[in-house]
Amino acid sequence: MTDTLRVDIWRGTESGQFQLFAIPRREHQTVLDVVTEIQREHDATLSYRFACRVGMCGSCAMVVNGRPRWTCRTRVRDVVDDGEPLRLEPLRNFTVVKDLAVEMTQFFDKWKAAQGYFEPGAEPAADFAVVPPATAERQAADAGIECIGCGVCYSACDVVAWDKDYFGPAALNRAWTLVNDVRDQAQSARLDAVSGSEGCQACHTHMSCTTFCPKAIAPTYSIAGLKRAVLRRGLRGML
Ligand code: SF4
Ligand code: SF4
Ligand code: FES
Repeated sequence: MTDTLRVDIWRGTESGQFQLFAIPRREHQTVLDVVTEIQREHDATLSYRFACRVGMCGSCAMVVNGRPRWTCRTRVRDVVDDGEPLRLEPLRNFTVVKDLAVEMTQFFDKWKAAQGYFEPGAEPAADFAVVPPATAERQAADAGIECIGCGVCYSACDVVAWDKDYFGPAALNRAWTLVNDVRDQAQSARLDAVSGSEGCQACHTHMSCTTFCPKAIAPTYSIAGLKRAVLRRGLRGML
């Protein structure tokens, strides 16, 4: 293993340039370790975001050598060959605040627009609901529930790049978990929310979100589920 790791990092906002750093290469260093070392030892003005360092908070995502990834759980040795440089950019499809930090407001506003929040109704049940793990609804909800809101899927989605209004895979995945939540009382409004031109019908199923999600969630399938639910409701209305 070579002693030195060359790291090219985007500096600026929408305009800017890459800046090259060189730091010691270590056996188990993560990409987030690299950024932290550069900020502490080389340039304190380098901006980036992280919180948990253990794959829980979703705040450390960046584009690493062309691919969106969570950086706290990405080892350098797994993404660049010995002697090759590491290239770090902010997530695509987000406004860049500075360097590697992006603005997440629009991303989460779209969760809200897709009704990606639990609606207990006017008179919530007083007791805990019993939702058997073996039911199809529970399994569909469980398949998407571990989303950490990292934005990797949103960064990977071409439709988001083409259409700034498209809700994107994370918001629609969240809506799908709620469509399958038997306690929720806003199903009709949620299907209304996701059936418009910015909702599930805009997805062209090319799977980038599912390919890159670090939590192994498949938003593509969640969105397909929404399409089926919207169609079923439309057909029922014709009978
Ligand atoms: S499957 Fe749909 S949501 Fe996922 S990346 Fe492709 S277009 Fe975007
Ligand atoms: S679906 Fe996956 S990639 Fe998208 S925000 Fe959630 S955890 Fe991140
Ligand atoms: S720092 Fe929390 S997921 Fe990476």
